[in-house]
Amino acid sequence: MSLSGVKIVGVGHYAPPRVVTNHDLEAWLDTSDDWITTRTGMKRRHWASEEQATSDLASAAAEAALVHAGLRAAEIDCFIVATVTPDYYFPATACLVATRLGVLEKPAFDIAIACSGFIYGLTVASGLIRSGVYRRIMLIGAETLSKILDKNDRSTAILFGDGAGAVILERSDDDSFLASELGADGSRPELLYAQGSGARHPLDHAAIDAKVHLIHMQGRETFKLAVTKMVASTDSVLSKANLTKADVTFLIPHQANKRIIDATARYLDLPDDKVVINIAEYGNTSAASIPMALSETVRAGLVKPGDLLIFVAFGGGLSWGAVAWRWGA
Ligand code: ACO
Repeated sequence: MSLSGVKIVGVGHYAPPRVVTNHDLEAWLDTSDDWITTRTGMKRRHWASEEQATSDLASAAAEAALVHAGLRAAEIDCFIVATVTPDYYFPATACLVATRLGVLEKPAFDIAIACSGFIYGLTVASGLIRSGVYRRIMLIGAETLSKILDKNDRSTAILFGDGAGAVILERSDDDSFLASELGADGSRPELLYAQGSGARHPLDHAAIDAKVHLIHMQGRETFKLAVTKMVASTDSVLSKANLTKADVTFLIPHQANKRIIDATARYLDLPDDKVVINIAEYGNTSAASIPMALSETVRAGLVKPGDLLIFVAFGGGLSWGAVAWRWGA
């Protein structure tokens, strides 16, 4: 039983101005625009400047969401940032974002679950609001994956981009949150990970030489799992919400690979016009991809009150999940 409902009252997104095209990558990698386009659907990605860190992108997206909602930062009760590229190992990037927005002494914390970050964050934030703990929460997915990319590894360097998307969640009489399905499996972290400076392999010169602090991925294996888990998670939230595929207005999936999204949509019998894809412009921005796609879709005026949105993701952890969301008035 929930004490109240929750709805999204503002969205915003930000991508750094530096654009790296497939042709740009051809300059130093043994790859081609044709290979990248055919295998991934990506044409461009945005990479942060040397001066920009994740909190900078997150703050820009949050400011856009505040303007969209007609709210001041002081009216937000809690700040959550989903990221695996935090500014620092600690403190949490959310603390830096809240302070950047001029808010001190409000709760702020990060969620580090890679590409599923926004799905986990939306579930947690909705729970905090529906159970009466907070009235308004700023939830941001933000990444600067370019900072942990091996720019000379063609199997990963082409895939990842930087960006941030923010939503403001608010207590409401009607309830947008219909159902959530979350899952994780930590048995094979090596499928997709950045060992970074973690306690398992503290950073030393040998570790840096071996590039353990950068992203490593076994693409072929994660591809199949991504489709399976995204289809199952979508089926599960629809069933929990007593809805069917025919009720879906938009599927807003994590943007890891257009072929993963197409295969997922095919299994779910969803036509192209119900699937939001912006991967050509941004590449894979991990936790930022879904809120960026949502913000673009809402700001384009395509989402109407009563529409059924399905957010779905799969990524590092391994982790996956979906949320069924009825867009509020
Ligand atoms: N340019 C040209 N050739 C390339 C490139 C490149 N950029 N990258 C790999 N190749 C080559 C490979 O070396 C291989 O050559 P070979 O056949 O001679 O050995 C060939 O292309 C095929 O390689 P595959 O890895 O089998 O290519 P695939 O079609 O699987 O595409 C990709 C690779 C794009 C990585 C895909 O597997 C994928 O998208 N995987 C899923 C990624 C994902 O969803 N991860 C989870 C989310 S991300 C997160 O959580 C942070």
